[in-house]
Amino acid sequence: MYLRARPIEGAPSLALDNASLALDYERISATRQFESGKRLAADLGIGAGERVLDVGCGTGLLACHIAELVGREGRVLGIDPLPLRIGLASSRSRDNLAFEVGDAYDLDRLPDGSFDVVVLNAVFHWLPEKTGPLLSFGRVLRPGGRIGISTQLKGHLNQVHSILRTVLAEPPFDRYPRLRESITFRVAPDELRALFQTTGFLPVRLEVRESERRHPSAEAAVRFTEASSFGNAFGHLPPELKETARARARKALAAIAEPDGSIVTDAHRLTAIGERR
Ligand SMILES: C[S@@+](CC[C@H](N)C(=O)[O-])C[C@H]1O[C@@H](n2cnc3c(N)ncnc32)[C@H](O)[C@@H]1O
Repeated sequence: MYLRARPIEGAPSLALDNASLALDYERISATRQFESGKRLAADLGIGAGERVLDVGCGTGLLACHIAELVGREGRVLGIDPLPLRIGLASSRSRDNLAFEVGDAYDLDRLPDGSFDVVVLNAVFHWLPEKTGPLLSFGRVLRPGGRIGISTQLKGHLNQVHSILRTVLAEPPFDRYPRLRESITFRVAPDELRALFQTTGFLPVRLEVRESERRHPSAEAAVRFTEASSFGNAFGHLPPELKETARARARKALAAIAEPDGSIVTDAHRLTAIGERR
């Protein structure tokens, strides 16, 4: 397991991931996070020869796509604190694409100005403290370099998240309250704009995007939530209660299922592009 040099208060656990969650993430994210990631890469206008840092790269699907955009003259480094996900990503390594276990809170080993673009796709909402990482992203970017963030929007819980929240507030799970109501740390557009401005970035574009997502079943929706949260969705519960919580969540989700059993949710994502001053 990756151990931080210093603990980050409130940060999600990095100790709950397992091989099955990592494999599930690889499979499920291909039609979800990967799609928003490709759009983010297009918005950033990533082109041939650029040096790109993909922070929180997960199993590396997006980094691999970006490696195609930058071509042989460019290079992509994907970092993620979850060794099992970096293990899967590493099978994609090639001359212009490398993966390392690494953390947004510890980029010290990366030289100043060594990247043209920093990408965070579905990662920013996992960072409790955002100023430190943004300052580090600015340091490793050359002046005029770009940052692209696609993240969960503050104030919008999708149907799966709100059903999970209701289930976890019921007995016996309510005996194990989370320290915080939500496991992610979402921002509103104005907050992200202010964060950019105070950390040396010119906000170039901020946009909220709405879309509809479909999980094939209640079971798939629960699995997706666990894999995307690297085990944190039920991570605060004792092991013997986790399966009960999953079953309760599946039952509650089944009540809102479509006739074919699928679960439809809306998604609100905040996309932000900034330029390093
Ligand atoms: C939903 S996944 C997104 C993965 C990938 N970016 C994608 O587009 O599929 C969130 C990722 O954020 C990573 N993450 C969480 N905390 C992080 C941190 N402090 N630094 C870097 N990555 C982090 C997790 O390990 C996980 O792989």
